[in-house]
Amino acid sequence: MGRQPDPKTWETIQRLRREIEDHDYRYYVLDDPIISDAEYDALVRQLETLEAEYPDVVTPNSPTQRVGGPPREAFPQVTHSPPMLSLRAVHSDDELAAFDVRCRKELDVDRLDYVAEPKYDGLAVELMYREGAFYQASTRGDGVTGEDVTANMRTIRTLPLSLPDDTYPPPERLVVRGEVYMTKSAFQDLNRRRLDAGETPFANPRNAAAGSLRQLNPEITATRPLRVVLYQLVTATGMAWETHWQVLSDILPAWHLRAPDEEKRWCSTIDDALTYHRELLERRDQVDYELDGMVLKINRLSYWEQLGSRSRDPRWAVAVKFPARQAVSRIVDIQFQVGRTGQITPVAHLEPVEIGGATVRRVSLHNFSELKRKDIRINDQVLLERAGDVIPYVVKAFHDQRFGDEIPVEIPERCPVCDSGVVIADDLKNVRCDGLSCPAQLKERLRHFASKGAMDIDGLGQRTAEQLVEQGWVRELPDVYVLTLDDWMQLDKFGAKSAENMLKALEASKDVSLARFLVALGIPLVGQHLADVLSQAFGRLDQLASASEEELLAIGQIGPEVARSVDQFFSNPDNRQVLSRLLELGVRPRPVSSSLDGGELAGKRVVFTGQLSRWSRAEAEALVTRRGGRVTRSVSNNTDVVVAGPGAGSKLERAQELDVRVLDEDAFAEWIGADEES
Ligand code: IVH
Repeated sequence: MGRQPDPKTWETIQRLRREIEDHDYRYYVLDDPIISDAEYDALVRQLETLEAEYPDVVTPNSPTQRVGGPPREAFPQVTHSPPMLSLRAVHSDDELAAFDVRCRKELDVDRLDYVAEPKYDGLAVELMYREGAFYQASTRGDGVTGEDVTANMRTIRTLPLSLPDDTYPPPERLVVRGEVYMTKSAFQDLNRRRLDAGETPFANPRNAAAGSLRQLNPEITATRPLRVVLYQLVTATGMAWETHWQVLSDILPAWHLRAPDEEKRWCSTIDDALTYHRELLERRDQVDYELDGMVLKINRLSYWEQLGSRSRDPRWAVAVKFPARQAVSRIVDIQFQVGRTGQITPVAHLEPVEIGGATVRRVSLHNFSELKRKDIRINDQVLLERAGDVIPYVVKAFHDQRFGDEIPVEIPERCPVCDSGVVIADDLKNVRCDGLSCPAQLKERLRHFASKGAMDIDGLGQRTAEQLVEQGWVRELPDVYVLTLDDWMQLDKFGAKSAENMLKALEASKDVSLARFLVALGIPLVGQHLADVLSQAFGRLDQLASASEEELLAIGQIGPEVARSVDQFFSNPDNRQVLSRLLELGVRPRPVSSSLDGGELAGKRVVFTGQLSRWSRAEAEALVTRRGGRVTRSVSNNTDVVVAGPGAGSKLERAQELDVRVLDEDAFAEWIGADEES
């Protein structure tokens, strides 16, 4: 037994834990913090100091323990009682009306009211609290047996580790169920980071959420932007309520358990529910999470018991699905595409098929390991999915529908474009052409160099890049700046006017931010995000180019693989040659001014609230920090600007109270000149 705190210290520890949890709730769930980051950090540090002094009092439910904990070998099993059911799906207005008729008949009532909620697309979980303390979390599994993911769940900031008791004292045992999911914007951020780090991106937010929660190492889960929403109260010993609406709008929030909030709707009749279903469907692409459909539940909880369940789903609820974003098609060919780093990617060519309003003809199969794992062959029937803004992908091939004329695809032994040798990594994820002057690579490098997030050379797209390489006019990137008006005019689709515009665009592109220049160079593993990080850290091209691997590693967010890749890139004599030629030809990557000596927003404090439509939160924040400004969480007298989108709440009110300047998204974009940047 180690040293125990005296009663007063113990009280302080408990008070700090409660306060930190309350602030977490305000920040992560309500998006309405009342203290600054610095004040919050101070509370956490105070608690950490005390816990370091009295290690015996550290429990897994202390807010300091959200970082993860040790990895495990496997997940223990958890039995669900009652089982976690699924929902019966209805596909039409008539079927929904029939559900209402059937329920009213069985219950022998004239009228029923309902609660409509979004159908979240993540994975179902069950949470248990004992005496108000978080005790266990488990996945649905097969409905009866799931996996114990307690340590992983603890890392999700929207989940309270202890329930507040100021409104309702927590019951001895509380069991609630809900969904763990990832927002679309967080999913895209995560995939961007994974691509930057050379990792395989997740196919969709649901896979990302499932993969992140079912991680044997909770420290990894802690880095994933997961959320949880709770939509069913299963047990609360000794307590009972009348309606599901009351549970969602009063009980769960009182315990800081996040329930469907503005997205739920009380429906006084089944017609209301039909109307809401149409509304939700219209909003499908605007909300920041994958919306699968609508779940409709009878409001009165006593009816739940009365109606009971069938073997797999309850009789008191249905899922009203939205039109599928999946379709079936046949692969007519699999071709190989050579990227700018020489990576060879298999691409499936399909019988054209429409999914969610777009015609899909080609889908990337990502890499050969994926191709082997899913056993996808030419002539296979495949299931395709295109969810929201996610690129279409092959979910699976229907192996039981083969006719014998399916052709498996072998990894090419030579580059399909330049016939050079091919380098194959053991895990088959990376298959590359090793030809230094492979035209396919050069075309892709040039197209990438000119693209919007890089040098932004208007008019220099794929077709033009192809011609320049095929004509032999561009053998390495700088050549593009040497071409004359006459050269350009000889290209397909170019006249005097467009050739002139091209020269202007090339000239204009020479003035470029350091970050975009780094993107343009196409350094392996360095995408937009890491280019930003590197340009902020080094400020100037020469500083970065001469940095050692150790110096690179010293920067947060730069891992060993990236450090090696950057170092190798700048040590390579060919690359150095390309760089110095670009500079000689007048390309001037702008140094990054530190926030002290004045980016455009130097010293300015900006608060974001409400929804943004042009950027994810992270992107918007980067726009500010890149210009030397600071993003803070709460509005105070020191705040210079509040950027308010739809749904802005108390932060907006506070800004108005304090007479702080408020901008909407468009005004903000104009203010920082973001429209000139891409
Ligand atoms: S109620 C027995 N409410 O849909 C009641 N489920 O198809 C079942 N889901 O396994 C849960 N959003 O993972 C309910 N608002 C919502 C939901 C929801 C998504 C999922 C859940 C469940 C599956 C059933």
